Amino acid sequence: MRLLSIETSCDETAMSLVEVNERRDNFRVLSDITISQIDIHREYGGVFPALAKREHAKNLIPLLKATVDRSGTKTEVRKLRKEEEEKVQKILSREKNLAEEFISYLSENGIPHFDAVSVTIGPGLAPALWTGVNFARALSLVSGARLYPANHMEGHIASILLKPRYLEEEEALFLLDTFPFPMVALLISGGHTQLVHVRDWGEYELVGETLDDAVGEAFDKVARMLGLPYPGGPEISRIAKEGKIREDIHFPRPMIHSGDFRFSFSGLKTSVRYLIRYFEKAGKLDEQTKRDIALAFEEAVRDVLLAKTAKALDEYGARGLIVAGGVSANERIAQAFREETEKRGIPLYLPERYLCGDNALMIAASALLKIRKGDEGIPPGTEMRAVGNLHF
Ligand code: KG4
Ligand code: ZN
Repeated sequence: MRLLSIETSCDETAMSLVEVNERRDNFRVLSDITISQIDIHREYGGVFPALAKREHAKNLIPLLKATVDRSGTKTEVRKLRKEEEEKVQKILSREKNLAEEFISYLSENGIPHFDAVSVTIGPGLAPALWTGVNFARALSLVSGARLYPANHMEGHIASILLKPRYLEEEEALFLLDTFPFPMVALLISGGHTQLVHVRDWGEYELVGETLDDAVGEAFDKVARMLGLPYPGGPEISRIAKEGKIREDIHFPRPMIHSGDFRFSFSGLKTSVRYLIRYFEKAGKLDEQTKRDIALAFEEAVRDVLLAKTAKALDEYGARGLIVAGGVSANERIAQAFREETEKRGIPLYLPERYLCGDNALMIAASALLKIRKGDEGIPPGTEMRAVGNLHF
């Protein structure tokens, strides 16, 4: 079974093609490509939705072509039937250029054969999501592939299933039945901060999330205040490495004692802003002070994430912890969870570093969790809606 997966929820356009094994519990990676739009969004200091949508529309056909070429996917050389062409035009009516490119690609290169197409339908930026969703729908229609709508956050959870150096391995995933349930997942990204009770693969309960900014967003905003480029997470952690703990730089740990699983990072961000202003006015915002602020901010975030997650581990009697999403690439945060899980004697599952951010393989892995259970997806060309605020 050949499964194509597509991810366009934010600022990466990603596509992968995998060959699912007979037992339907693992796959081999035939192609995996991510085009990052970071350089384009950097100018704006964040992701600009209309721009993201335009870039996804531009990237999808080149990605499809590269995927088909690399994987030696069989194509059926025939002309699109009139009604197929009309349907494609209708599905992609909001992306006129993409519709044209799509039709001309198929007429020049033939119709690629896939058995299944999984695509992120949410959560994420609605305009960006729609582009991927409509493209997947049109592609499934002409290729006869079943559709698997994917939840981006389940994708981040599934990212921990991918083995390191998967491209050289026969099978890309760890054995699914070796994971201890129940588990708790802490999902930390640019758009989300969620604690999830994972009863089993495919059985999730959202137990808490942020009331305002997501962790990654807070990193990005604080970086901007310090004059660092987007995305700010890696920048903050880079300069924090040389930071020193100082008595005059200390930030609150918002909601750490709230007794529930909710987070808030906007107050923390404001405290950072005030302190930066204070140092600026005093003419003392030198490079070392910026590093010290970055360190103090990172520690405040780490402490809150750790305290809430520890409480969730207790509450749900978790036998394993998953930490995933873009911010899980943060070494100081990852280290805190390594120590915590070691102390408890339970395993910690982190994605490989290059799979912490958005990618299409995690979407393939999340679809496999469904396929394994006999979920047959929905018929080719079925209408799907992008849901910006999709929940578990
Ligand atoms: O999961 P992701 O790639 O995209 C979303 O779904 O949002 O997460 C991106 C976020 C950005 O806010 C970025 O600044 C943050 O992850 N990030 C980090 C680090 N690397 C990426 N935050 C803290 N430390 C890092 N090393
Ligand atoms: Zn993400």
